[in-house]
Amino acid sequence: MRRTLRLFFRTAMVLVVVFTFCFLLVEGYSYYQLGIEDRFYHDQHQLLKPSGLIGHGLGIVGSLLIVAGVSIYMIRKRVRRFARLGVLKYWLEFHIFLCSLGPILVLFHTAFKFGGIVSISFWCMVAVVVSGIIGRYIYLQIPHTIEGREMSLTELEKTKAEFKQLLQERYQLNPLLIDEILQAVRSRPDRTKGNSIGRFAKKFLFEYKLLRQIGTLLNANHFARDTRKELLRLIRYEISLNRKIDRLLTMQNLFRYWHVAHLPFALVMLLIMLVHIGVALAFGYRWIF
Ligand code: HEM
Ligand code: HEM
Repeated sequence: MRRTLRLFFRTAMVLVVVFTFCFLLVEGYSYYQLGIEDRFYHDQHQLLKPSGLIGHGLGIVGSLLIVAGVSIYMIRKRVRRFARLGVLKYWLEFHIFLCSLGPILVLFHTAFKFGGIVSISFWCMVAVVVSGIIGRYIYLQIPHTIEGREMSLTELEKTKAEFKQLLQERYQLNPLLIDEILQAVRSRPDRTKGNSIGRFAKKFLFEYKLLRQIGTLLNANHFARDTRKELLRLIRYEISLNRKIDRLLTMQNLFRYWHVAHLPFALVMLLIMLVHIGVALAFGYRWIF
């Protein structure tokens, strides 16, 4: 049930982001594709220009979403008092949702016209989003606990021991079969030759064959269909965990360097955004207030 609920929320968040982008693009396309001089004569100019009712509103709502996405995640992660409030990795997913939707609204606020000092804020925002996507990939390569905390090498070794115990106690596999599975799970493809695409394809094929080989082993031992499926899922997880352990140090270092890029770009973006808001207010732009 929890898995279904998680899948529902994830899908809903992705759909909201994609739908918002497509909706704003389709609705305003005839305006946004015009050159600056021609826009003035478009009948939606008063609504869609950056200071227009919709354009200005998109800037305000988008910026609020970004500020909320950053503050909620940082407070949950760094303030001890909130350490028990929900699972950190789900807060990260929420951060990604708000901080993807926000920049899309801000993009339509600019009406695809990037001028003045505030364009630095815009390009920093683009850099933060792109670096966010890279960071998300690296984050997924580092094993985390259910609460979203990075696992230490000792904890990872413990999980490996628990895997063996699980095969013995819950699934009652015979010791010979367990040894064969463990040997298969710990085997590695030959990574010395070929370029990175070749090595990736080789790894993919290797793991595919490995799972088939384990599947045949389980078939020969006449497990019920559901048990076999469950075991294969567990084994697939174990294989991926072993690969992650191999790359753990590299990924942890990369992630540390990655923070050095994501955080300062976010700060510059937010600072210039504040100046931009100040200037807009000073020039008398009030939106609906
Ligand atoms: C990260 C957030 C934001 C970015 C990157 C951004 C970016 C921009 C850009 C590129 C423009 C067009 C500048 C030009 O005409 O050359 C603009 C205009 C404008 N922005 Fe923002 N904006 C942001 C947030 C906001 C917010 C929160 C407000 C509301 C207070 C706001 C109010 C305005 C107004 C009123 C204009 C029109 C200014 C004019 O026509 O002279 N912006 N913004
Ligand atoms: C304008 C948009 C965004 C801003 C301003 C922003 C800002 C931030 C900030 C301030 C942090 C906390 C850094 C820290 O704790 O040291 C963070 C963490 C993170 N963000 Fe973003 N972010 C944005 C968009 C994104 C996007 C689009 C993604 C992914 C697709 C993303 C992925 C991440 C990840 C993986 C972390 C690290 C989590 C961790 O180490 O606990 N961010 N972001």
